[in-house]
Amino acid sequence: MKTQVAIIGSGPAGMMLAQLLARHGIESVVLERQTREHVLSRIRAGVLETTTVELLREIGVAERMEREGHAHDGVRLAFAGRESFFVDTVKTVGKRFVVYGQIEIQKDLYAAAEARGQLLIDRVEAVALHDFDAAPGRRPSVSYLRDGVRERIDCDFIAGCDGFHGVSRRAMPPGVGRKYEKVYPFGWLGVLARVPHLPDVTYVNHPRGFALASYRADRLSRYYIQVPLEDRVEDWPDERFWPELKARFPEDLAVRIVEGPSIEKSIAPLRSYVHEPMQYGRLFLCGDAAHIVPPTGAKGLNLAASDVAYLGRALVRHYRDGDDRALAAYSDTALRRVWSSVRTSWSLTNLLHRFPHFTPFDQKAQEVELDFLMRSPHALAALAEQYAGMPLEPLP
Ligand code: APR
Ligand code: PHB
Repeated sequence: MKTQVAIIGSGPAGMMLAQLLARHGIESVVLERQTREHVLSRIRAGVLETTTVELLREIGVAERMEREGHAHDGVRLAFAGRESFFVDTVKTVGKRFVVYGQIEIQKDLYAAAEARGQLLIDRVEAVALHDFDAAPGRRPSVSYLRDGVRERIDCDFIAGCDGFHGVSRRAMPPGVGRKYEKVYPFGWLGVLARVPHLPDVTYVNHPRGFALASYRADRLSRYYIQVPLEDRVEDWPDERFWPELKARFPEDLAVRIVEGPSIEKSIAPLRSYVHEPMQYGRLFLCGDAAHIVPPTGAKGLNLAASDVAYLGRALVRHYRDGDDRALAAYSDTALRRVWSSVRTSWSLTNLLHRFPHFTPFDQKAQEVELDFLMRSPHALAALAEQYAGMPLEPLP
């Protein structure tokens, strides 16, 4: 089999890239190791920066998001049990963000792929990448097993959109590039419940630990509390979770939290990870395959989208104009935005969580910084700009 771009992974990055390329008549094949049902079963945040909303519009999969997504003019912060304050991203940087579950984006991408006849091969095994070092005379290919039969796809480029645990990043020659990693000493317990949500996405710093209120739909709330890494889901029955969540919110918001039976409960560790470079020869990494951010800044999906915007547009320049400058600069261009989001997520994680080594001084220092944020329009604007998302750079 031959194609122009072999895409490994049918998560948001892989499917957004396939959609963008198809809009420009560029052929791709998507390889996915899971079933479609498994991919759609993942509970993931959907806080969409303006650039992500614009990309979804550009590639023609924004119609349902525009109809069912919830636009927000900002995000709410609370600390020290006091009243919360609103970080107005519209008043400060003229940007709003949209809450629309990642599962819904995945459904929209799958529907668009089906409508255009996208070749998406799922349940593949033993995916391997070959000859992507761009040496003269060598053409990249991807091989895989499906139902016990080994297949091969000859291509011009390989897009590694296979997430943190995928094969693409690991296919780079040993010693190529550098890894940056930070593991945080706590996790997030996430709960999904069919109850009305608070009006704003709300982050809370409390001496008992971090908490977050978000949602997926009008009657589908998503709450998180920081828990020790050793905690298990079984340690947190609903009758323990809800009082703990409310204890961390200021009174005026706690009284508005509606309890209900959890329909999903999970604990996720927090980590930052960046692989540099994000390309090698004719292999290009997109999304979680290249970087992971703690969920504190809701940047994961948005970084996948910005990587796709940069790589997709660079590939269009290659095929349409024979111009490879943007392709050659992809890793540097994408990494500038990746590191900006990694720093934002790191900064918010440090500002809002209670670390094991904390003394009363450390807790007080966080509260003083949050108080400064609340009172300084300049500090608030800087946070608003980072949370709402920096603009994409023009391609070289
Ligand atoms: N072969 C084929 N497919 C693979 C392989 C492999 N060897 N390894 C992983 N995959 C698939 C996974 O099954 C998954 O469907 O690649 C896909 C990667 O999708 P994601 O992990 O969702 O990564 P990405 O598309 O970059 O999206 C990032 O998802 O994880 C969240 O918080 C993250 O919101 C962000 C977004
Ligand atoms: C979510 O809705 O799951 C969510 C929202 C904001 C975050 C993280 C997760 O920072």
